[in-house]
Amino acid sequence: MLEWILIPLAYGLGSLSSAVLVSRLFDLPDPREEGSKNPGATNVLRLGGKKAAIITLLGDALKGLIPVLIAKGLGAEPMVVGLVGLAAFIGHLFPVFFGFKGGKGVATALGILSGFAWGVGAAALATWIGVAFAFRYSSLSALVAAALAPVYVWLWAGQSPALTAVAVVMSALLFWRHKGNIERLLKGEESKIGNKKG
Ligand code: G3P
Repeated sequence: MLEWILIPLAYGLGSLSSAVLVSRLFDLPDPREEGSKNPGATNVLRLGGKKAAIITLLGDALKGLIPVLIAKGLGAEPMVVGLVGLAAFIGHLFPVFFGFKGGKGVATALGILSGFAWGVGAAALATWIGVAFAFRYSSLSALVAAALAPVYVWLWAGQSPALTAVAVVMSALLFWRHKGNIERLLKGEESKIGNKKG
């Protein structure tokens, strides 16, 4: 039963916006106000450079990974493990500490998927990198990886219906958060990786 406590704790951890905190630390513009106005690693890269972006990426991924690994370490059943991951993801999207205005969830989802099974995280990351190399759109890479994530979870996280269902919910939320990016991609107006304009 102890592991149920992890659900609100994961939500709280997910609510810590790495992009905002790292930008403050590096004296960079607030990523919620500049560029794409998204508090995420891509926008920090746009506004502040590689070092700050990598730390943001790691911070956001770890806040998904750590609670899931703790839940698994406590022997939680897959449904609880999935809910713990989902809580961290919801925290990133709707952070209690930042007026419920959060990011799009890509790095946090990667951490959560890696916690479900390392192979799932590796496959999602490889998908992101492959699409990014081919097309240089961070958003498109995330959308393709998110679309495939439930398949990866089913294949490499023990064919768990609970974890696969959580992956479907996360992917749906991630697509919803990328509405603006999808519109810009369709119009050919999306900013490419390495492009400084938002
Ligand atoms: O990680 C978020 C990414 O998929 C898109 O970010 O800033 O280009 O909207 P951004």
